Amino acid sequence: MKYKLLGVVMLALSLSACGSNDKGNQAEPAAVKADGPTVYKNFCISCHGGNLQGGEGPNLQKVGERLSEEEIMKRIQKGGGGMPPFQVSLKEEELKALSAWLAGLK
Ligand code: HEC
Repeated sequence: MKYKLLGVVMLALSLSACGSNDKGNQAEPAAVKADGPTVYKNFCISCHGGNLQGGEGPNLQKVGERLSEEEIMKRIQKGGGGMPPFQVSLKEEELKALSAWLAGLK
């Protein structure tokens, strides 16, 4: 009898723990919203440099003068000419944030 009661208490505790966990997960996407500079650091810095100055890839400091947001987005998705395609590795939200940020660099 005692053990049964303990079991019920444990179950209730673990359920409530799960409940609060779910709430934490729900709040997360808003907290880690994609932003251009962060995505750049994670995926592009190795070839385009810490200050977008270029290296293995071309300088991107004024890429917005040469290419529109849409062109930049396509370039990132498809890669080519030594640049790998990022269609799969980037989420749409990250791709958009990154392209918009780069297109604004003039
Ligand atoms: C493995 C190295 C490498 C990585 C990683 C890389 N690039 Fe590139 N990127 C290049 C090379 C090389 C070129 C030049 C290709 C060419 O000459 O056509 C290029 C070209 C570009 C261009 C066109 C520039 C222009 O003036 O025409 C853009 C925009 C660009 N990269 C953005 C990015 C972004 C954003 C990322 C991260 C998601 C990224 N690249 C990651 C190597 C890389």
